[in-house]
Amino acid sequence: MKELKDLSMGEGNTPVISLPRLAKAWGIKNIWAKAEYLNPTGSYKDRIALATMAVAIKDGRRGWLGTSSGNGGAAMSAYGARAGLPGILCVMASAPVEKLLSIKPYGALMLTMKSLGPQEMQTLAEIAQQENLILTITAYKFNPEGMKGAESIGTEIASHNRATHVYIPSGGGGLLVATANGLAAGSSKAAVICAQPFDCSPISQCINGEIATPIVDSCTTLISGLQLASPPDGDVAVERVKSSKGWGVKVRDEDTWKIQDLLATQEGVFVEPASALALAALHQDIVEGKIDSDDQPLIVLTGSGLKDLGRYRNSVGSHQRNCEIEEVKSAVQSHLATIGEGK
Ligand SMILES: Cc1ncc(COP(=O)(O)O)c(C=O)c1O
Repeated sequence: MKELKDLSMGEGNTPVISLPRLAKAWGIKNIWAKAEYLNPTGSYKDRIALATMAVAIKDGRRGWLGTSSGNGGAAMSAYGARAGLPGILCVMASAPVEKLLSIKPYGALMLTMKSLGPQEMQTLAEIAQQENLILTITAYKFNPEGMKGAESIGTEIASHNRATHVYIPSGGGGLLVATANGLAAGSSKAAVICAQPFDCSPISQCINGEIATPIVDSCTTLISGLQLASPPDGDVAVERVKSSKGWGVKVRDEDTWKIQDLLATQEGVFVEPASALALAALHQDIVEGKIDSDDQPLIVLTGSGLKDLGRYRNSVGSHQRNCEIEEVKSAVQSHLATIGEGK
């Protein structure tokens, strides 16, 4: 039988890097970032997939069945292949094309769906049980043993021992709960901050007392991975944030995209919009005076920028143009003049 070490592909133990240029520009001493985009399939979901497939083998499952906005699907497909377990994945048809394409090589059956809400998830839970498949939805409500795999994010941040505030991009709430559990297990006193898109912020709104339960009618945000109107782990996420003395933040999509570009151009770090949203939430909090210059905030950078290139595909813009070799010298000179040499 395959063991955990046979399934491992080097996931976890990601570095904590600093973002010194942004920290200086924003007037604080340090910004830390947990580089989860360095996991084998490009997101933190690999930690969950490893733990999930280990449980599937232990329990003698025939295979796996799950939903995904893209990242969980790639992770489960990769680790499912490694475990020798066939998989069926229901994905949102609206997911970024890079996320959908990167699932294909692993050979799982992909069913593209128009909607994946609580009702669809419940139906899948029933099918999984009837067919002896492990349910791979990345939420404690559906896959508590698998979610334990993500708790190491929190213990690793705790052993780094610097963060005063941990910013977590949240959709279903599972990542936040897992990180908070890990922080507590590592005796960290860091405040947990829930970062959500302004147009889909049930958990942040509930934390801030704007709504009684973490559920909203609909979501219009374009940030992939964070489009859950009824987050399966919403209640627990609210509790974890409150007990850590953290708070909820709501970030506009436009601000997220601006910060995504800033992180790439100023620090050389290219992450997907869901991850950039956590950094945008920090920026908002610094502007609003919620974070002091001596605080040491840490952002969980959950997924690689290569997973969602849509915004760049049609925007050739000022950084790209057709050129003949004879024109290169003058292009070089005028570019250097525009940016100002030595800056
Ligand atoms: C890149 C990324 N960041 C953050 C999240 C949010 O995680 P959760 O839904 O557990 O809150 C997701 C979820 O799919 C994600 O893909």
